[in-house]
Amino acid sequence: MRIKVFTLFPEMLRPMLGASILGRAIAAGLLQVELIDIRDYTLDKHRSTDDYPFGGGAGMVMAAQPVIDAIAANTPEGFHGRRVYLSPRGRTLNQKIVEELAREDELMLLCGHYEGVDQRALDSVIDEELSIGDYVLTGGELGALVVIDSVARLVPGVLGSDESSEDESFTTGLLEYPQYTRPADFRGMQVPEVLLGGNHADITAWRREQSLDLTLKRRPELLETAPLTDADRDMLARLRRAREVEAATPGLERLDLLAADRFPRAWFCAFVPEANRKAAKKQCFSGRRHVGYLWQAFSMGFMPDFAEGEDARTAWQEGFAEPYLLYLPGARLLYRVRGQIELPEGCCLLADAALTRTLVHTGRPGKGPYFARSGKV
Ligand SMILES: C[S@@+](CC[C@H](N)C(=O)[O-])C[C@H]1O[C@@H](n2cnc3c(N)ncnc32)[C@H](O)[C@@H]1O
Repeated sequence: MRIKVFTLFPEMLRPMLGASILGRAIAAGLLQVELIDIRDYTLDKHRSTDDYPFGGGAGMVMAAQPVIDAIAANTPEGFHGRRVYLSPRGRTLNQKIVEELAREDELMLLCGHYEGVDQRALDSVIDEELSIGDYVLTGGELGALVVIDSVARLVPGVLGSDESSEDESFTTGLLEYPQYTRPADFRGMQVPEVLLGGNHADITAWRREQSLDLTLKRRPELLETAPLTDADRDMLARLRRAREVEAATPGLERLDLLAADRFPRAWFCAFVPEANRKAAKKQCFSGRRHVGYLWQAFSMGFMPDFAEGEDARTAWQEGFAEPYLLYLPGARLLYRVRGQIELPEGCCLLADAALTRTLVHTGRPGKGPYFARSGKV
């Protein structure tokens, strides 16, 4: 890939082009970037390249002559790639456009300065205007660097094998999942357990969920064009429901869908650490009837609503601590909850490590929690 950059300030670009991945790619000959100083082509005896705008107004305009002559002198056999002017008026750069540009053999980038470039130069030597975002820079040099950097990553060989460009934000049509590196425990902040387990199917599912969730939250419009599988659509429906529930019920800490899918079967056992299980196990009553055991993971918050007898109420209030788990069977969502909350519509709570007993809450007024005999709700 050959890139010619036309600028009044080549020194602005040099440091970036000499460092890191770009520097290595250029040294290895995978990328050729030529910086052409437009000022070298001015015919003005003071070497000036700009003048006042016709019609008045603030600032200066880059004159057509040096721009056109600089480009002509540096493309003696014509130019067979894309000729781009960096400009806030242009199409906004995105990964799709970057991919288009990377397919060209040659690129020409014209950097404006001051109030921009005389329109006659643009009409003569430019194929398209590209913007790097809806804001105004002092010059096109940063924009040119953004184009060079994003295109270079797609040139074969520029990224090492451990710097793949395939799984990035936008390449998949979605935003990328969160990344972590060692240590697994940094000042008490843990890496999600699934990433430490070495189960590749679980890791892939977890990352996909994180990508979908982040995209839904930050850039929902990307979901309209992203290639989605049936499994993605199912995940998205659950995540959308999760957003509704969380908006209506503050204080819920969502556990990932993988965990929710494993709950109540195996996962609940893992939630209460082995050492705590004995201590956590408490007798539970419904009225005067002994109905089994619940884990400490359940809060007393619900109990007055549920218990019929004083004994039961006391047992809960003394014995059960936060956090507790809340499960929504409809969307298959699992939450860890601290403090008392208004129960979301359709929620239920599951208990008991062996899951021989399940505490069910319908979430509907007048239909209080009750115990069911199995984990099925
Ligand atoms: C101060 S700007 C000129 C802005 C111009 N008067 C306008 O309102 O559209 C100077 C130069 O910076 C570059 N530039 C500014 N904002 C840019 C952006 N968002 N994307 C790409 N280039 C930009 C262009 O090359 C432009 O000619």
